Amino acid sequence: MADDLRLVDVRSEHLDDVLRVRSRSFGLLDAGSREGWVADAEVFIADGRMVGVADGDELVAAARFWPFQQWWGGRKVAMSGVAGVVVAPEYRGRGVGSKLMRGVLARSVEQGYPLSGLYPATTVIYRHLGYEFGGGRYRYTFPAAELRSLGGKEVEVRRAGAADAGRFLEVVEQLHAAGRISGPLVWPEAKVAEWLGEDNSFCYLAEDGFVVYGWASGRLRVEELVAGSEATARALWSVVGSGSSIATDVDAYMSPDDPAHLLVAKEAGKHAEIERWMLRVLDAPAAIAARGFAPGASLEVDLELDDSELATNTGRWHLSVSNGSGSLTPSTATRDSLRLGSRALSALYAGTPLASLRKAGLAWGSADADGAIETAFGGATPYMLDYF
Ligand SMILES: CC(C)(COP(=O)(O)OP(=O)(O)OC[C@H]1O[C@@H](n2cnc3c(N)ncnc32)[C@H](O)[C@@H]1OP(=O)(O)O)[C@@H](O)C(=O)NCCC(=O)NCCS
Repeated sequence: MADDLRLVDVRSEHLDDVLRVRSRSFGLLDAGSREGWVADAEVFIADGRMVGVADGDELVAAARFWPFQQWWGGRKVAMSGVAGVVVAPEYRGRGVGSKLMRGVLARSVEQGYPLSGLYPATTVIYRHLGYEFGGGRYRYTFPAAELRSLGGKEVEVRRAGAADAGRFLEVVEQLHAAGRISGPLVWPEAKVAEWLGEDNSFCYLAEDGFVVYGWASGRLRVEELVAGSEATARALWSVVGSGSSIATDVDAYMSPDDPAHLLVAKEAGKHAEIERWMLRVLDAPAAIAARGFAPGASLEVDLELDDSELATNTGRWHLSVSNGSGSLTPSTATRDSLRLGSRALSALYAGTPLASLRKAGLAWGSADADGAIETAFGGATPYMLDYF
């Protein structure tokens, strides 16, 4: 059986097999959602973003990736967002998942993604392949009455919906670039319009901000709130807080650095929840060229990368950073330099301090430039708002 296992592109006729493996992995799809799942899968198939492992004619494992962009240092970087990684129970524990994920990595590289990201149900398989924690999806809880009293009444706020998807994307783009934000995903405009048009999406737009919130299990939940000024932040949070007569608490997906933490007098902080996501640098020079760096940082340093999965990253490199941009070019320098494997490179890209990587046994060699490197890659804490 195992000898015949091969990587394949998932095709429409495989979808019954994928659903069978998926049910055994994540539970049955809700009644009525099969049609939507198949429609989505057909898009992944058409774009070559769904790969599988077959044993003879039968598909025994599958995974797909979303064509995301992700903000890094205030710039958008193409990122393959891996999801639905499933192996049939009778095939687990013998390398099928690793074979599948190698197929996902290869296809993501072929399609030109410098980065890949995922929410791990188990970290071991992904760490073996070079992924490392990149950030979290943070959910905080605020007393609704606190939000209600934030004020901002002078700011004009109007109800919004699917037709405002373009404006929504423009506002995010401006604010994330200006704030040199790292982590959030950019969804295609059609998906944003679908989301804003849902019955449970209550959207309000201001000149320099918006909020999308809804009900979840009898509580109010903020899916996204951005504001370009203190007054707008106050106004939008107090729209949500106006529900305090019914909802005692408001849950919110947001950055740990969000100014709301500084505006609200009391935060139900003990309820904060974090789901961690992992990042993988697939194409080191392209990933470095695409992200933003700390604007004041200036760096000229040699690096030695060892990537056992993606050989094109392996070798000696020169990293330059100035005026908020970086480049990674081949180097012939032979002096002792910072040495990183693929997990460490991915973690460093996401701003993990080199001191942590060294203490975890993931970075070695010259520490002369550690401080300057950390400054260049540092900035706001990477966060995501969406699960995928
Ligand atoms: C997780 C899953 C995809 C792994 O597939 P697999 O074919 O068993 O993986 P592999 O045999 O290639 O294992 C690769 C490594 O991951 C480890 N691993 C796999 N599943 C693991 C688990 N549940 N817990 C801890 N380690 C695990 C293996 O031990 C191996 O590491 P090792 O070489 O150091 O021993 C599979 O178990 C599955 O489909 N699970 C249910 C759905 C799921 O959780 N999907 C992941 C969503 S992010």
